[in-house]
Amino acid sequence: MNDTRVLENKTGKIVIGMSFGYHDSACCVIKNGEVLAAVQEERFSRVKNDKSFPKESLRYCLEYANVSLDEVDCIAYYEDAQKKLARQIWMGTIDDADPFRKKEVYRHLCEQKPDEVIRDITGYSGHIAISEHHLSHAASTYYFSGFDDAAVLTVDGVGEWATTSYSHGKGASLEIFEEVNFPDSIGLLYSTITSFLGFKVNSGEYKVMGLAPYGEPIYKEQILTLIEMREKGQYRLNMKYFDFLNTNRMYSDELISLMGLEPRKPESKLDQVHMDIAKSLQVALEEILLEKVHYLYEQVPSDNLCMAGGVALNCVANGRIQREGPFKNLFVQPASGDAGTALGAAAVAWVRLFGERPSQKDTPHAYLGIDASSDEIFKLLSNSGVKFSDYRGNEEELVKFTAARISEGAVIGWFQGRMEFGPRALGARSILADPRLANMRDKINSLVKMREAFRPFAPAVMAEKANEHFALDYPSPFMLQTCDVESLIDLPAITHVDNSARVQTVTAESNKRFHSLLREFDALTDCPIILNTSFNVRGEPVVRTPLDALTCFVRASIDYLILGDFIISQADIPEMWKVGVSNTPIKKDKDPRSIGHAVYTFL
Ligand SMILES: [Fe+2]
Repeated sequence: MNDTRVLENKTGKIVIGMSFGYHDSACCVIKNGEVLAAVQEERFSRVKNDKSFPKESLRYCLEYANVSLDEVDCIAYYEDAQKKLARQIWMGTIDDADPFRKKEVYRHLCEQKPDEVIRDITGYSGHIAISEHHLSHAASTYYFSGFDDAAVLTVDGVGEWATTSYSHGKGASLEIFEEVNFPDSIGLLYSTITSFLGFKVNSGEYKVMGLAPYGEPIYKEQILTLIEMREKGQYRLNMKYFDFLNTNRMYSDELISLMGLEPRKPESKLDQVHMDIAKSLQVALEEILLEKVHYLYEQVPSDNLCMAGGVALNCVANGRIQREGPFKNLFVQPASGDAGTALGAAAVAWVRLFGERPSQKDTPHAYLGIDASSDEIFKLLSNSGVKFSDYRGNEEELVKFTAARISEGAVIGWFQGRMEFGPRALGARSILADPRLANMRDKINSLVKMREAFRPFAPAVMAEKANEHFALDYPSPFMLQTCDVESLIDLPAITHVDNSARVQTVTAESNKRFHSLLREFDALTDCPIILNTSFNVRGEPVVRTPLDALTCFVRASIDYLILGDFIISQADIPEMWKVGVSNTPIKKDKDPRSIGHAVYTFL
């Protein structure tokens, strides 16, 4: 990494990182070595997985860092568009590729390159740095892992050509030494079966992971037929089972024959066979990843493993890697999807520009997004005319009130402080409830989240009491690993059918008010655990502003909204606000190409 130059400006060293144009656009700012802000554009545009230029995210990052664009030393972009174009052209030249795909390739040939887009939209005339996709993923996890030496594994659908990378991070150096290239992709294998099971590619993978514990791995041999393991961390997909190179469908007729059943139609009934296929896929993924992790350990026998890429959001696989893998410690980037590559690209540019690693070496929390002041919330509520209680300067009572309502079975909208970066709600934009109530999962699923009943909810627990209730001997601050529930308390709302849970351990240092709430709930109930799910309804991004929160609270019939220092009860919402709420349609995907996301968005 040699692009060292010394750049001086009045406000210090500033690098902006960006990802856009594919999915999950995001922007971040590193100032004087510290990650000050990172945010995904979907939270502003309200278009889930928005790929558009992160204009509002950039505006927020600059404002938060208190800098103007001309003080920025460098804008770093997360992937090499030229290299990606070569892969896109290759895809367009495949003999029987469909005409739509060829047209898309032509469009990409004609469109502006990312650096031109950045200059055109922002007027920025400074240095623009390009990092490769998997190097951005690797950097997003290694440089903020807290480790000075680590092996790094990145796994996703596809970047430019790479779909899997193996690297070694040591001090400021981060070198990829092996890659697996498209079309061979563990991520695409998982997405293909996700599609076969009737879920959306690129977003329904979570549902497959949630469905898996209901099944038996009786299709594992068939799934493993789809992939051939090779030496040096390599593998090949058996392409006769996949159609994504040629058509707008992930799987081929041969895969249908291999599985011996028709693909499930989206939104149709889920049968035991679908659960068995999900379980088989999940177990196969875990075994494949464990083998790759062992290969990586042979090459880099460090104590530490860092992971990123969309597949690293598979918290069940992460849990097995932590427990059964050869590495002592595991760090997974909380924004492991492509949003996190903005952070990685910025870190890569930082090292190249300044010859040193960013001074912030760890990830103490993920609260890197927008906040709302008490004044702003007070003004909003006063103007709205809604009845509310003011707890400014009285956090203790606010927390006591909230804990008491949760213990009585209420569902709470919890909007506090800066928004999380990454897909998980971690106590800043969360819906909270009592994990001990058997009906709570169904209540939240049907009334609030409007999502499939089989999907589990996650628990947040006081970090100091986590190992009394869960098989955890390490912190899990970002809900990126699952473990067994070992509690003497019955916790039906957060315990999955296989007795697992995706735990968030909460410390007072990382989130003081959320920790106080857990402590108060514990004092009241002898249970230091609260159900924590993201504050949004199905199909929409997580809420960002107080107004988003208020709207979601009304639409979703949440019992109480704790909006910063203020409390609003659903019982006090004027009837006229609720007119039409029951008929409000769930937002449809706005991507005209998606066709139900039958195929991965390669282009
Ligand atoms: Fe990626």
